[in-house]
Amino acid sequence: MNNHTQTTAPASRQDIRVLRIDASGRYEGSVTRQLADEVIDALGARFNHVHVSKRDVAQGVPFVDEDWITANFTDDEDRNDEQRKTLAHSDSLVQELKDADMLVIGAPIYNFGIPASLKAWIDMTARARLTFRYTESGPVGLLKNKKAYLVVASGGVPVGSSLDFATPYLRQALGFVGITDVQIIAAEQLNTQGETGVQAARTQIAEILGKSSTVSSQAQTTT
Ligand SMILES: Cc1cc2nc3c(=O)[nH]c(=O)nc-3n(C[C@H](O)[C@H](O)[C@H](O)COP(=O)(O)O)c2cc1C
Repeated sequence: MNNHTQTTAPASRQDIRVLRIDASGRYEGSVTRQLADEVIDALGARFNHVHVSKRDVAQGVPFVDEDWITANFTDDEDRNDEQRKTLAHSDSLVQELKDADMLVIGAPIYNFGIPASLKAWIDMTARARLTFRYTESGPVGLLKNKKAYLVVASGGVPVGSSLDFATPYLRQALGFVGITDVQIIAAEQLNTQGETGVQAARTQIAEILGKSSTVSSQAQTTT
């Protein structure tokens, strides 16, 4: 049996900490918010206790600016009070990311990529020495043993197609900080698929996380 063999997995009974990140600009009718709810519910059925922290990036995340860059590139022990203050929000975003065992990220496709708010969150959390470090053989991610569920929704773009710059980018950005176990749940081409596209995503959630779901033995070792 290799690592990718499909086996029926018993529900894992353990406590997990989930960081839920929402990025849709809308609340009424948001497919990613609805499906992220359903992923969290499915995790609740699978694990003993699921503690969820929420980060709604659509509510605002600061952009990188000159003060931030200067502070970030100043060694920690050399930072003045003002620079510490400049980095404080970024530090707290990094801490909630470090604290999580799992991420559930709702990521609508906006203009072929991810919402600017989610990009801002990535800019605030990709921090040298905190979430990745440079080595002689290149950058190495410092976040280990975390799994990410990416709930992606699109209007017209097929997820995984050459027009989808959101999912490859998110995989790369997460992998850069060490989160390489990434599961994509796609509600795609909703302009034409409508409810069928949402149901297809629900089927994926059930297959991945349902009570009697089949999951890969590789996934079992990481959840
Ligand atoms: C500003 C904006 C830009 C969008 N750009 C794209 C796009 O480039 N490609 C695409 O397939 N869908 C695009 N869409 C459609 C959304 O991906 C789709 O409506 C999705 O369901 C949004 O997620 P939500 O339902 O969680 O809000 C765009 C929607 C908005 C609001």
